[in-house]
Formats: sequence, C-alpha cells, structure tokens
Amino acid sequence: MAFAPRVFSGMQPTGNLHLGNYLGALTRWVEMQSTHDCIYCIVDLHAITASWQDPKELRQSIRDVAAAYIASGVDPKRTILFNQSQVAAHAELAWIFNCTARLGWLNRMTQFKEKAGKDRENASIGLYDYPVLMAADILVYRATHVPVGDDQKQHLELTRDIAQKFNSDYREQIAEAGYADGQFFPLCEPVIMGPATRVMSLRDGTKKMSKSDVSDLSRINMTDDHDTIAKKIQKAKTDMDGIPSEEAGLAGRPEADNLVGIYAALQNGSKATVLTEFGGAQFSTFKKALADLAVAKLTPVNAEMRRLSADPAEIDRILKNGAERAAAVAQPIISETKRLVGFG
Ligand code: AMP
Ligand code: TRP
Repeated sequence: MAFAPRVFSGMQPTGNLHLGNYLGALTRWVEMQSTHDCIYCIVDLHAITASWQDPKELRQSIRDVAAAYIASGVDPKRTILFNQSQVAAHAELAWIFNCTARLGWLNRMTQFKEKAGKDRENASIGLYDYPVLMAADILVYRATHVPVGDDQKQHLELTRDIAQKFNSDYREQIAEAGYADGQFFPLCEPVIMGPATRVMSLRDGTKKMSKSDVSDLSRINMTDDHDTIAKKIQKAKTDMDGIPSEEAGLAGRPEADNLVGIYAALQNGSKATVLTEFGGAQFSTFKKALADLAVAKLTPVNAEMRRLSADPAEIDRILKNGAERAAAVAQPIISETKRLVGFG
C-alpha cells in the first residue's frame, strides 16, 4: 500500500525547552505544516521514564510545552496537537511491539546507556522500553516522516526494524487482509535537516545542548529574556582565532562551528553565507550580532508563550480537541492491528 504522507513528532514535557529543541526540531515542525498532514505530541508517558515527576509540575509542564509549540508556529487548527497519555492506543500498540522488539535491539540504544548511567540496575523498565513506546507513537498513526534532532536517529532506525518485523511476523494475515505488498506499517523516514540538527552546549562544544546540563549558561532557554540571552552568548566559550571565511576553517573548532551553525539556523540560511558575511571578524563582533539575532527571533516567541500561558483553560481545550482528533486517526489502525494479531 502506498502510505499517504503523514508527519508525527513529539517532545517531553520535562524542564525548559531550549534553543536545540527550537532549531533542531520545532522550526522544522512548523515548516512541514504547509506541505504535510502533521500530528505533534507532548509525550507525557515518556516524561516519567527517567525519574519521578511531581504531578503538579508535570501538569504545568504539559501546558508550558503546548504553549511553546503554538508560540513557535504550530497551528492547532491545521495540525493535531495533543498529549500522549490521552490517547490510549499508544500504550496498547507499545505492548504489542514489546513482543515484536528484541532485547538485543534495545541493548544497543545509546540514549538508554547515557540516561541510565552507571547505576543501570536502578533504571526504570520504562526508560529501557522508551524506544518501543516511541515506535508505537509513530506507527499508531502510520506516520511516514518524523522531524527530529540528530540524537533521535537510532530510535528511528529501531522504529523501522519494529515495523519490518511486525510486517514479516504477520505476513500471512496482512496478505489475507488485502495488503498486496505486505506493508501494514510504513518504514518511516527521519527528517533531520538544516544547519542545527545538533546544537551544542555554549560551555563545551563537544557536548549536546541539553535540559539536563547542570549549568544554565550552557543553554538558551525558550523562556530566557532579552538580557539573559545576550549574557549567555557573550559568555559562550570560544577559541583564540576569529571567524574563518570558509567552512573548512571551522574543522576541529567545535565552539566556533556551533555558534556559526546557530546563526545560520536562526536566519534560515547556511553556514557558508554566515562566513561570507563575518569571515575575518573577531568573536566579539560576531557574538554581538548573534545576540541581536537570537533576541530578535526568540523574544516574540517568548512573549507569545507568556500570553498563552495566562489562559490555561484555553490550552486545555486545545489539547482535549487534539486528543479527540488523534484518537479518531489511531482507532482504526489499532483495531486492525489487534485483529491481525488474533485479539478479539
Ligand atoms: P528532548 O528535549 O530530548 O525531548 O528532545 C525533543 C526534540 O528536540 C528531539 O527531536 C530532539 O532530537 C531535539 N533536540 C534536543 N536537543 C537538541 C540539540 N541540542 N540539538 C538539536 N536538536 C535537539
Ligand atoms: N524520544 C524523543 C526525544 O526525546 C521524543 C519522542 C517520543 C518522539 N516519541 C516520539 C519523537 C515520536 C518523534 C516521534 O526527543
């Protein structure tokens, strides 16, 4: 079956969203709305895998992340916007996929190894199973395209492996059900594009910008005000050389490469264009321009987030409506999956 193109992606409602989330994922999500049917999710089931979350704070974070999506340009009229826990089909399909995925596959997941750290015996089963739930998120809508940052690549390869094994485990039933090409679940494509698919820490160009970094100076949060953004960029680590004129001059200079990439992504251009403009300049000049650009791009988003957050009832209404629409898409797919498996 030729699958109709459909986009699915999600983020966890834990901590602040930051510039990496914005440039690596959100801006792409917003663009794809004009070419695709899109479903964007706040993955609250995933949010409780790494550590216990205070229920009051979790509820608040779900609304904050919804506000950040909308303020960045996700349009809840055109796009389905909802939180994962409100559509039971995600968890149902995840259970079936738990019996499709193999231990050996999950043992290779680098994000689990990083998040579990040394005390692996004490990690939750949910943290280990996280990528299987992620596969269910995508496939319960038969999504074909998944815009994410670079760090999610391995999880999307696993999603394809799960789809392929399910299609093969149930090939007779799938053929009987009339799928001539044997494809019940699509092999989705990652959409990892642009100059900022991996935004690095402002304090260490070899580490990913992350919500869990202890230093707040390492990241620009979407809620940071004008002065904080400018201060963090001014304090960002750099090396002794200035801005090169060509991309080859960024090799082996992770901090310089990161700042140039951020500038390029913020102005929707390429690193080459930024270097044509700033080649030969000192970092102090470049940082000043970068701070102005970041403030110009992020402060309107920030103001809109605050405006939306002042009306939580409206956000709840949007999420409820999104969950109803999402469930309507997922229901026939999970029902047919259960029939294939022999349930009911
Ligand atoms: P998370 O914050 O881990 O829930 O990630 C949400 C989305 O943002 C995913 O698509 C990630 O790949 C993306 N993302 C997170 N951190 C970064 C980063 N430093 N650079 C680029 N994309 C990122
Ligand atoms: N694992 C993703 C992250 O940490 C979040 C996520 C959960 C997701 N389910 C998804 C992303 C489905 C894309 C599609 O960033």
